[in-house]
Amino acid sequence: MPQTESLPLPWSLLKEARDRLRTVTLRELLAEDAGRVDRDVLHAAGLRLDWTRQRLDAAAWDDLYALAGSADVTGALRRQHEGGHVNSTEDRAALHTALRLPRDASCMVDGRDVVGDVHAVLDSMGALVRRVQDGTHVGYSGRPIRSVVNIGIGGSDLGPRMVCRALAPFAADTAEGRPLRMHFVSNIDGAALDAVLRETDPETTLFIIASKTFGTQETLINARSARSWLLRHTDHPEAVARHFVAVSTHAGRVEEFGIDTRNMFGFWDWVGGRYSVWSAIGLPIALYLGMDGFRAFLAGAHEMDRHVLDAPAADNAALRLALVDIWNHNLLGACARVVLPYDERLKLLPSYLQQAEMESLGKGVRHDGTPAEHETGALVWGAVGTDGQHAFYQLLHQGTRWAPTEFIGVARPEHGLPEHHPILLANLVAQAEALALGKTEAEAAAEMLAGGMPEEDVARLAPHRSFPGNRPSTLILLERLDPRTLGALVALYEHKIYLLATIWGINAFDQWGVELGKQLAGQVQEDFMAAAQGHPHDPATSATIDWLRARLPGS
Ligand code: F6P
Repeated sequence: MPQTESLPLPWSLLKEARDRLRTVTLRELLAEDAGRVDRDVLHAAGLRLDWTRQRLDAAAWDDLYALAGSADVTGALRRQHEGGHVNSTEDRAALHTALRLPRDASCMVDGRDVVGDVHAVLDSMGALVRRVQDGTHVGYSGRPIRSVVNIGIGGSDLGPRMVCRALAPFAADTAEGRPLRMHFVSNIDGAALDAVLRETDPETTLFIIASKTFGTQETLINARSARSWLLRHTDHPEAVARHFVAVSTHAGRVEEFGIDTRNMFGFWDWVGGRYSVWSAIGLPIALYLGMDGFRAFLAGAHEMDRHVLDAPAADNAALRLALVDIWNHNLLGACARVVLPYDERLKLLPSYLQQAEMESLGKGVRHDGTPAEHETGALVWGAVGTDGQHAFYQLLHQGTRWAPTEFIGVARPEHGLPEHHPILLANLVAQAEALALGKTEAEAAAEMLAGGMPEEDVARLAPHRSFPGNRPSTLILLERLDPRTLGALVALYEHKIYLLATIWGINAFDQWGVELGKQLAGQVQEDFMAAAQGHPHDPATSATIDWLRARLPGS
């Protein structure tokens, strides 16, 4: 989407800043901008954020703060935290922040203080966690629970899956002296559930059916298959009650499915699916870490909420993260952002952020339905370092396209091979430095000559062995990765997303873009089953349906 010609003042100033900095390299900025480290490194809620390798100077930052001011980000944050209906198309609040408020706080949603409701659900989650942990919640044959299978998709899967993996060193031992085995099934592909069921014992497995709407096809089909599997092993009258719990906002559908609502953990329509890890959707986390661990995760997020609400612009981690995205995407023209956690435990963070950011910010119209005036959400992708270095970094360093990168590292490991850690972190730091500074042809040539290479080879290879540099990155470093700091990190991204949406004037909390595919899938499914295609399709789709219909199981 092209930017409009008659830009409001903050955007015009930013364009001028961009033009002024166009020929200034990161090498120059890092060498000559003395206040850079003091100005562009921040500490918030246990995180160290470093924007020194962004192609920005103090004046450009000021222009970005002016843009944030003109979008009234402070007012927008206040409205959100006070329960305003910031989800305009669904006329709802988006109050995931209320899920991490302490018990004695208060937060009004449509005239009701919801903090009591939030803590009542946390307490009932705590009761189940205690019974599973101490072995008093037993399966149909009287044996304690050893495995948990979470069946859900999107926001009902990615958060708990990512957090359980990230916090595995903090898993609590049950009375049997080992942590629960956690499984996650999201894909409707039977291969996913089948693989998990093969590894689990019906006598000792607890299924969590997690769905905000309890109407999601993938989840309901997987849940039905899991229930049939259980009932093939036992006709115990309490089998479903002992082995199935539900997490949802929709009690009626839970009951219809056959789960007693006494075994249901509720949440509310003011919690968006991709913002729901803090709600009962976090039950797998609570079961795995114990309730104290889950509460520490919530407390870390709350600490970040306080920071984002209270810190002035230049000290505000979420706002600066958002403004750097504005700079890279709207001013410098990058269309993607690469998330690179240098920590095996954060392997699933890029997928989690893909949903959080792309479902929230992938919008083409503003709240009032008029076209967005600026490019909106970036393509978010990434992989754990150092794996990515041996896969796609070539393009990041020397390709004709560029994407800003976000490196995430943890200073202190939790494993028994600490000698690996300095090497891992050296790679993180080196990659950021290499992207920023690059290597000129002259430098590459000098290195090769010093290594004794003949001059004609040096001349031939120098262009291939040089690096343009000037490729920006942000560094996010954590002292430790624990429940508290992970909570703060995830909350930081949530706030960044809302601030970006505020500046772009779009709704971060709906997701109409997922509907068309779902609607058409229903029609295609009917056409697979019917003798002849009943729904009108384009010729390419019809031909594909015909080809598959002749081959699908049962045809
Ligand atoms: O289809 C997208 C979506 O609605 C996501 O926003 C959501 O997280 C996911 O589906 C799962 O929805 P539910 O929790 O209602 O099953």
